Amino acid sequence: MDEREIRLQRSRRRLFLKTAIGTGIGLSLVSAFYVGASLRPKAEVTPEKEPLKPGDILVYAQGGGEPKPIRPEELKPGDPFVLAYPMDPKTKVVKSGEAKNTVLVVRYKPEELSPEVAQNGVEGIVAYSAVCTHLGCIVSQWVADKKAALCPCHGGIYDLARGARVIAGPPPRPVPQLPLKVEGGVLVAAGEFLGEVGVKAEAAFYRHV
Ligand code: FES
Repeated sequence: MDEREIRLQRSRRRLFLKTAIGTGIGLSLVSAFYVGASLRPKAEVTPEKEPLKPGDILVYAQGGGEPKPIRPEELKPGDPFVLAYPMDPKTKVVKSGEAKNTVLVVRYKPEELSPEVAQNGVEGIVAYSAVCTHLGCIVSQWVADKKAALCPCHGGIYDLARGARVIAGPPPRPVPQLPLKVEGGVLVAAGEFLGEVGVKAEAAFYRHV
């Protein structure tokens, strides 16, 4: 073996060792991450943080005291929306521990609603997620002259009579509607939200890269 071949073999050996060490460190880091992840306490889903389910009773979010289910006759067309939480009908646990469960409920004259919206409402009453699709604030204010809902964070306005289409501000899409029914004289979720609640996962990711 001449001098040149010997040098070549040595340099290959060095390269192999470097690669092996680099891979080893990489794998250690990955496994350390997974070990760390598995040791990390899992976020506990308490009954108050359970997601909304069909059949949940809608109760007033404000007011304190005993949970008060919303009765259709308490809502009048033209009045501001009310904020609500779902309550498990069996355990009577109000699921107020998860912001994504916040719902806004409002009544229009039936003829003011677009047909698609009306069919998921009941007697002119419609419900939507109250979590803004822009950055996730709670849509909490009523714009009386537009009969619409305002997110105070950046001025997003949703037209609740027309599928919560965005009529002002930066929200990229409507808040999803929640189908309703009346059972035992109170408002009940008749299904899941008809779309993703809050900020879409990929949109949130790209805002942080
Ligand atoms: S978070 Fe609602 S408009 Fe920005």
